[in-house]
Amino acid sequence: MDILAGSPIALQIASAAVVGIASSVAIILVNQRTRKNGEPPLVAGWVPYLGVAPDYGKDAARFLNEARENYGPIFTIHLAGRRMTFVLDPQAVPAFYRNKTITFEEIEFDILENAFQARGIRDLNQHLRQHYKHLHDPETLRAQSARYHQILEGILLRAATRLNPNHVDEEGWITGGVWSDATRWLFDANLATIFGDGLDSDAIYEDLTAFDKQFPLAAAGMPDFMLKDARKAQARIAETMSRRTLDPGNSLENASKFIKGRSVTLKEHGATETQAGRLEFTILWAAQTNAMPAAFWTLAHILTHPHILSAVQSEISNSITTSTSSTPSPKLQINLQTLPLLDACINESLRLASSSLSLRVSKLDQELDLKTGDGFRVRKGDYVVVSSHHIHFDPEIYTDPTKYDPYRFYTPPTADGTKSAASRIPHLPFGGGTQLCPGRFLARNEIKTLVALILYAYDVKVETTELPPLDQSRFGFGILPPVGDLEFKYRLRSGILAKE
Ligand code: HEM
Repeated sequence: MDILAGSPIALQIASAAVVGIASSVAIILVNQRTRKNGEPPLVAGWVPYLGVAPDYGKDAARFLNEARENYGPIFTIHLAGRRMTFVLDPQAVPAFYRNKTITFEEIEFDILENAFQARGIRDLNQHLRQHYKHLHDPETLRAQSARYHQILEGILLRAATRLNPNHVDEEGWITGGVWSDATRWLFDANLATIFGDGLDSDAIYEDLTAFDKQFPLAAAGMPDFMLKDARKAQARIAETMSRRTLDPGNSLENASKFIKGRSVTLKEHGATETQAGRLEFTILWAAQTNAMPAAFWTLAHILTHPHILSAVQSEISNSITTSTSSTPSPKLQINLQTLPLLDACINESLRLASSSLSLRVSKLDQELDLKTGDGFRVRKGDYVVVSSHHIHFDPEIYTDPTKYDPYRFYTPPTADGTKSAASRIPHLPFGGGTQLCPGRFLARNEIKTLVALILYAYDVKVETTELPPLDQSRFGFGILPPVGDLEFKYRLRSGILAKE
């Protein structure tokens, strides 16, 4: 036992140590909250350590708007012990994504460890990245999109012919919700397309929803004992995923090449059950939680804008043919390349609902030149952040930015295949640079197929033009979901998916 324990000297040493630590922490905090020469304006807030967290937490989008008005497009905030320099100038976007001195790697591991509890996976994760190509190379993309279409046709047919008198009125209209029905159809088809057959999609949907509800808290580093529901739900899905992934037999029947490839790599590199389950859970989360709200807003905006609805319906009719083959499914063939207005509707819905923040950490004390005129200084360890929402709502880039106008993205096909200027405007729902979403083409194909099949195979109607609000409590975490739902009615058109 320490002979000094309990003695007055020990107490003095102990209190000196506490004072020493406290004053070093205070010096660090004061240093963090001080603006140095060449640095952007600093919004330090008034609460020690938390800084601006109380105001940022209330409404982040508005807080950042106000800071931009007061300090200009580049400013640093002090948020929960961290310095974050926001770059809300669209001019800076290309240089931001190209710059190699600000990187995502450390943040990625923070998120994997805190939010997803995936630990000790640095090397493993590097090896797994090789499989991202299977999400977007043309051949696998075509195969996955075709399988998704086939599954979705079956889902739509069953949804419209289920014999539930509570849902069906005397004219055959079924009352549903764009979120509770249509988005859920995408979830089921997406799950089977990526992860294969034999999963209990009801249980997985419920658990993923429970996890996702607490995701912002998990990402902010909230201790696990305060996230009990989320962690239990995550563990159930991870257990299912790890069993299938590490199974030496073939329990990944009809899974995508992407997931099969990951399974081989996980086995080869000796992933534990926990690691494999949690890593595959991250893929489920990435694949579903953005695609669902993206599909919701795309369909909801179209349904509530009658002139867009009829223009999209006519474009779809010209892009769909009925299969003459004797195999029962899929019955319809959609040419996804000839839907430029539907493409534009997706882009516009993503523009309006995207809240993702592209986060990078500065590897150095340095002057950053992001082609905005003057450079600005950041410190080693500072976050540098681009906010998709603020770029998407900049009136210099998107005139009348709060207005839903898909035609701002509409590029009629050109004979020589050249792209119009619209395609060079910053549009960041899928991130950018090394973190550009590898599932972006699949997601677009899935949303296009969902909307095309619904609008072609069903009669549809809504009785309101009011959309539910965006759930701002999830600001920073991708495409914002709605608060509530949009009711819509649907009825199978005769002879399209099934015989009369
Ligand atoms: C509309 C739907 C989608 C949107 C808006 C979206 C958006 C994004 C964004 C913004 C990122 C970058 C995150 C960051 O910088 O921190 C990302 C990453 C990712 N997305 Fe998507 N995503 C969508 C659909 C999908 C789908 C269907 C998949 C299929 C598996 C997918 C797989 C991934 C993966 C694996 C990553 C991580 C990439 C990496 O580690 O570099 N996403 N997504």
